[in-house]
Amino acid sequence: MNITVVGTGYVGLVSGTCFAETGNNVVCVDIDQQKVTRMQAGEVPIYEPGLELLFERNTRQGRLTFTTDLAAATETAEIIFLALPTPPGEDGSADLSYILGVAEQLGKIITSYKVIVDKSTVPVGTAERVHLALAKNLSEDLFDVVSNPEFLREGVAIDDFLKPDRVVIGTTSERAQKKIKELYEPFVRQGNPIIMMDERSAEMTKYAANSYLATRITFMNEIANLCEKVGANVDQVRRGMGSDSRIGKRFLFPGVGYGGSCFPKDVQALAKTSDEYDYDFRILKSVMSVNYQQRMRLYDKILAYFNNDLQGKTIALWGLAFKPNTDDIREAPAIYTIKSLLAAGAQVRTYDPEAMKNVQAIFGDQVVFATDQYEALIGADVLAIATEWSVFRTPSFQVMKELLKAPVIFDGRNLYDLEMMEEKGFHYESIGRNVVSL
Ligand SMILES: NC(=O)c1ccc[n+]([C@@H]2O[C@H](COP(=O)([O-])OP(=O)(O)OC[C@H]3O[C@@H](n4cnc5c(N)ncnc54)[C@H](O)[C@@H]3O)[C@@H](O)[C@H]2O)c1
Repeated sequence: MNITVVGTGYVGLVSGTCFAETGNNVVCVDIDQQKVTRMQAGEVPIYEPGLELLFERNTRQGRLTFTTDLAAATETAEIIFLALPTPPGEDGSADLSYILGVAEQLGKIITSYKVIVDKSTVPVGTAERVHLALAKNLSEDLFDVVSNPEFLREGVAIDDFLKPDRVVIGTTSERAQKKIKELYEPFVRQGNPIIMMDERSAEMTKYAANSYLATRITFMNEIANLCEKVGANVDQVRRGMGSDSRIGKRFLFPGVGYGGSCFPKDVQALAKTSDEYDYDFRILKSVMSVNYQQRMRLYDKILAYFNNDLQGKTIALWGLAFKPNTDDIREAPAIYTIKSLLAAGAQVRTYDPEAMKNVQAIFGDQVVFATDQYEALIGADVLAIATEWSVFRTPSFQVMKELLKAPVIFDGRNLYDLEMMEEKGFHYESIGRNVVSL
């Protein structure tokens, strides 16, 4: 099939590349000329494991191309995906200006039947609004609008896209259903379902899934906070809970709050939708307020350790991305930690395997960016850990002790065993577990 993907971010570029990988001709469109030029020159603009290999193969074989020209890109397309940003607006609702703007543009360009697919995360009712935006200038026989929310996770996006747990397709149009189903068949050969539903239910499914996951993490964060008070160990509690097949093991790890480009904005947008429909969604409001506090957890622990005075202290910070295996720092707890540390007069030395360039764009030379994790420790008073990159899991504690001014670690991801830290002689504070004191 001839496919167009509009927007080449984490979702658009992964989707476009994976559609090309199954033999389709894919043209990716972006408004960012610089990004398009880089991709045309063979450069992958984001870090996503496994993407480079597929990108290289499909561009080389001519199935994956890039342009800024929306009209040329869509001329022969059968399906047009909108993978555009939906950032929070000032009031917390999803900003639909990118989606509706492109839909209106498409209405003026299209001359033959196309399926227009919302892949962005959009509030209930958006498919209808996209329909209206297209219909301003275009006959309704020439298009159908489908809601096809994306569930990929950054860091494992290629695998998630090529082998999705499910594909959700929201449309009441039979011709559009047939077309989209045909496109997705190769991705569900192992029997995972393509779930057909109406547009509104598809839109709601995405928000319900993300809000549930954010709630689950937040619930565990609160259990962890209580464990600290009552002297229980949240890791043991997690194992005990997660072994119940009704609960399951995944997404029960406590930490320094959820971040990223999805959970914070999607929880906020669903709360906003609830308000608009005069429904008081109390759980979501609690989730947002607990997470707001949780992402300050590392900072609060460091501040308390230094008796509320960080003036002149140097903090080493390992991990900047909102989770491992991505360079995405949107709403990353580490960013909030750095801001608070700097505001309190501390110096910050950081290291992250992939995300330092993005963080440098925010903080410039206010923060030291080390070339490896050990360099970040040189002359630091303590170490804080905000992201559970594998490379931090089994470091040389001997070298760490030599480089840090004192053997003190604040671990926002519970990477190390308490007994081991005691044996190695560290002051060690983690989440939901007893403090190991020197
Ligand atoms: N990132 C994820 O893990 C993820 C997962 C599932 C769903 N989503 C949803 O998918 C959508 C896209 O997210 P993302 O993370 O890929 O966004 P992103 O910010 O990484 O990428 C968006 C891209 O769209 C481009 N763009 C903006 N305006 C444009 C226009 N008028 N024409 C063409 N291109 C334009 C930008 O230049 C950018 O390259 C959002 O709604 C998000 O909530 C994201």
